[in-house]
Amino acid sequence: MSIQFNEQTKIFHLQTKNTSYVFCVTDFNALEHLYYGKKIPLDDVRYISNRQIYSHVAHESRDDRRYCASVQGFEVSVFNSGDIRTPSVVFDYDNQADACRLRYRSHSIYKGRKPLAGLPYSRADEETESLEIVLTDDDNCVELTLIYGVFADTDVITRSQILKNVGGKALTVRKFASMCLDFYGMDFDTVTLEGLYLYERAQVSRAPLKRGVFKNNSLTGTSSHNHNPFIALCTHNADEDMGDAYGFNLVYSGNFSDEIAVDHLGDTRVIIGLDDTGFAWKVGKGETLLSPEAIMTYSAQGLGGMSRNLHDHTRKHIIEKEFAFSPRPIVINSWEASYFTVTEAKILSLAKHALDCGIDTVVLDDGWFRDSDKTSLGDWRTDKESFPSGLKGLCEKVHALGLKFGLWLEPEMVNEQSDYYKQHPDYVLSTSKLPLISRHQFILDLTRDEVVQDIANRIREELQGLDLDYIKWDFNRYATEASSFATEQGEVYHRQMLGAYKLLSLIKAQFPNVLFETCSGGGGRFDLGMLYYSPQIWTSDNTDPYARTYIQYGSSYAYPMSALSCHFTEGKCTSGRESTFEFRYRVASFGSYGYELDLSKYGAEEKAKLKGYSELYRKDEDLNLNGDLYRLLSPEEADYCAYMVVSKDKKKAKLTFLELYASGLVESMALRLKGLDPDKLYKNEETGEVLYGATLMNVGVRISDMYREKRTDGYTLTFVEV
Ligand code: GLA
Repeated sequence: MSIQFNEQTKIFHLQTKNTSYVFCVTDFNALEHLYYGKKIPLDDVRYISNRQIYSHVAHESRDDRRYCASVQGFEVSVFNSGDIRTPSVVFDYDNQADACRLRYRSHSIYKGRKPLAGLPYSRADEETESLEIVLTDDDNCVELTLIYGVFADTDVITRSQILKNVGGKALTVRKFASMCLDFYGMDFDTVTLEGLYLYERAQVSRAPLKRGVFKNNSLTGTSSHNHNPFIALCTHNADEDMGDAYGFNLVYSGNFSDEIAVDHLGDTRVIIGLDDTGFAWKVGKGETLLSPEAIMTYSAQGLGGMSRNLHDHTRKHIIEKEFAFSPRPIVINSWEASYFTVTEAKILSLAKHALDCGIDTVVLDDGWFRDSDKTSLGDWRTDKESFPSGLKGLCEKVHALGLKFGLWLEPEMVNEQSDYYKQHPDYVLSTSKLPLISRHQFILDLTRDEVVQDIANRIREELQGLDLDYIKWDFNRYATEASSFATEQGEVYHRQMLGAYKLLSLIKAQFPNVLFETCSGGGGRFDLGMLYYSPQIWTSDNTDPYARTYIQYGSSYAYPMSALSCHFTEGKCTSGRESTFEFRYRVASFGSYGYELDLSKYGAEEKAKLKGYSELYRKDEDLNLNGDLYRLLSPEEADYCAYMVVSKDKKKAKLTFLELYASGLVESMALRLKGLDPDKLYKNEETGEVLYGATLMNVGVRISDMYREKRTDGYTLTFVEV
């Protein structure tokens, strides 16, 4: 049993393989948080709740000041209920202060989990257990159900909650975070993934906590290029291998907020959920509001261990089973080859060349229904001049060559220049007379179900009978002034996200076996919400392998390698900077691999090289899909980057070393490997040398040995158990 409740002590103890999460019901029926971290026995740990009480703090008992509403840790903190610290939930119920003081009423523990209606969430397996705790106020006006999922195998605990208006008077929710977690003390660093367009998650930002509130959030209607819902708290001494590291994320793709609030006592509160800026949700009589799911993990093996937990959880419980561990398509995507000049002839030529390069899927990106980004989103009519056989004919021709066929879509958008916009100007997510424009397009108002259904039908009709193998689902602008002719202003951003998930589900239902790759102007919606629908996400429009090294390394803090779609592209790519074939392959093979270049420009020798890369990727793909990632050298700290991935049975490992800037230092470095079995003998497939895992991990590999003979910009070594 992962979830235990002790009737005597009123303690809930949630256990995963290596962690414990403990809280109790107090004498006044509040839920007091007691501990989260390394696994402990099922002892009564209520003794830590006896805190020294200061003046100016309110308490419920007239005689005993221990039951203090603003000193102890809580599982949920409602504003105006006595807790003067940063709240996780704010609501008004008919001007009644008492409605905010929620008390434990009942709980249930069960195997598996219930779906979160309309939202993405962690999928249960045989081991998963759930706990639901019902809290209400004394007058039974408001009911809050806290939902915990315990995923013992991945050391993850999930949290979400449902608020119900049971009293029937006006209830407006102004903040509704998915989780609240209190720690004694503030001896932590925060780690967030900062970035921007073309540099998503590239800056791993680590800073010690200070008193006050640290907020990592997005107001763009997406999880954004600029910030990411992932956040970690780790002890100051934590590194890649040791120290306490807590990782948090939100299974959501819209406006999120991670707040870390350090209070007057120097205690730390973590609040993860929907961003509350402009949020005001009216919950009518008998209605409910459901929060997205937050996930949390703890590792005593530092940030490396935390990442591996998150990777395992994402692969086992977020991504759809049928795709998570299966080989991914090796695509050739038409975008960087042809941009908007794409035609049927060009796609077929690309397909024929692809056959020489070990590629199995041809993806027709943007341009099949328009010749610039100025028009036609929303109309979804194939350009018959450029595609005389139609999509169906082209798809059949590609299939006849023995290749799979994929298509680009951007269903959530409409161009200002489109028939659809002319017919339905009120269908855009703005009530402005002159809506702000970005990439010549507007976001459709998906808070309205009729818009969701209408756009789904249009796409359904155009793609009817098409035997697609892959869909790239894009989203190319931020919501900047979201407002709707049909939806309450305070509900617009979240309802928009719910509409987007519904639209995704409708199109997915039309193509049940198709692999979806999501995208948002590169990696602007790289989050667990999207990974629930698509096993991989286009990581960034920046395909320069030097820049990509930072982007991919940063992304790996929260997301598994296979979730990152990475393409081998033209040498000059986005930056104009040259790079070798080898370097480009080494970087792109970090994730789910593919190509994005005009293959017709490549001669037989070069294509043979590309074929070799495709084969090499396939040979090692299982490591990307299943393996454990160890980060060795951060590109932000040195002129190099190194990481390795080790199979779960520790029989095979791959080390990648990338030299970003030529530096003499490389010559003298020994790189100590990680994650191997110390007692196993490994053969270095490159050099033939056989050494114990213990030797490779403690003495290391001398980089100069690799360099002296053939000075390159990095190398990949494979170690196999002998
Ligand atoms: C976005 C994507 C690109 C490409 C273009 C097409 O920028 O990130 O990969 O699909 O849209 O317009």
